[in-house]
Amino acid sequence: MPVAACRDPAMSILKGARVVLGVTGSIAAYKAADLASQLTQAGSSVDVVLTESAQAFVGALTFEALTGRAVSGGPLAMTSEHRITHVALAQAAHVAVVAPATAAAIARYAQGLSEDLLTATLLATVAPVVLAPVMESHMYAHAATQANLATLRGRGVHIVAPEHGRLASGAVGVGRLPPTQALLDAIRAVLGAGGPLRGRTVVVSAGGTREFLDPVRFLGNPATGKQGVALARAARDLGASVRLVLGVATVDPPYGVETTRAASVDELLAALELATRGCDALIMSAAVGDFRPSQTEPTKIRRDRGPLTIELVPTPDVLAALPGDFVRVAFAAEAEDHVAAAQAKLARKQLDAIVVNDIRGADRGFAADTNAVTILARDGRRSDVPLSSKEDVAAAVLAVVVDLLARRSP
Ligand code: CTP
Repeated sequence: MPVAACRDPAMSILKGARVVLGVTGSIAAYKAADLASQLTQAGSSVDVVLTESAQAFVGALTFEALTGRAVSGGPLAMTSEHRITHVALAQAAHVAVVAPATAAAIARYAQGLSEDLLTATLLATVAPVVLAPVMESHMYAHAATQANLATLRGRGVHIVAPEHGRLASGAVGVGRLPPTQALLDAIRAVLGAGGPLRGRTVVVSAGGTREFLDPVRFLGNPATGKQGVALARAARDLGASVRLVLGVATVDPPYGVETTRAASVDELLAALELATRGCDALIMSAAVGDFRPSQTEPTKIRRDRGPLTIELVPTPDVLAALPGDFVRVAFAAEAEDHVAAAQAKLARKQLDAIVVNDIRGADRGFAADTNAVTILARDGRRSDVPLSSKEDVAAAVLAVVVDLLARRSP
């Protein structure tokens, strides 16, 4: 898709995207209203196509109100006039999404049975298609459904796997529609596939580390992984294959990103040694603990041992220990003289760029949802990102990575 390629990397990939959203007859159809709403709020224009059975669950008016656009479906949907309009719409789309997609809708699409408007639209579009199967778990596991999904996957359709949980029948199993955030992620990944980082592998480390004193106590930090996960998403949205090494975090790894979990500095180092092999860039946003206890007690330290002195020793410098010729971007959490300190770190650690967090303030760094950073590149260029969402900060960092990689190319 050329969509991402012509976009400013600092802009959300969803802004200006033309999305056809197909909704089929499942109880989860009401959740598609949230997806339509979130896409519209992100600046996409969303054309909803409801199947006849979807209309038994949700009305066209709901989607018209949310998207501000006419909704297709209903008795007149297959008149020749409407069909022609719809083919044009399908062909102009950047992405088509079917969420929720029932077993019947999947079967019709796999077999090319275009009697209904949604299947006709899917056959007419040249845009990538994202499909979220939702059904009772035995129906999902059935050979017929799996064969249809395999057929569609083989044709390049992106299948977002259903989740495990409580189903409409009351039973618990696989078949639930993933949360809106996961669907948005899948759409973003597909829209960004042709972006400026296509063919590049970007490694991101995120979250904090824990070093245990005994089996129940550790030295840690308040990192949540939010900034690193936003960086992984932003790199993915620009077309990169992303490997995320996620330390201790309060957020889930995003869709479309290969994730390895690591808790201690040693685990982080081992995971990054593997992940950085053959990579093009490493963004080291993990809050790596600088010290750990010189020894870990094998059993719980008892209170009656009285005042306790714990000897701390420095942890290995992860960045310095990683071999390879790739673009290296570090983060630095600084409290005073932050730009000068980071400039020295940039040179000392032989980095290509450093993202400096002034951590004085509850609205930035660690646990906050916002951040304010200064990005310093080795060639002296500097960009200041005022207090913004961590997604916007991620986009600014990735813009620098895109630039650094472009300069490296022969
Ligand atoms: N880092 C690392 N290994 C460590 C500590 C930090 O690779 N043991 C990485 C961090 O992920 C970050 C960068 O190095 O990207 C800078 O981290 P910071 O803690 O600011 O750096 P230090 O070299 O530990 O500097 P200071 O002397 O200020 O503690």
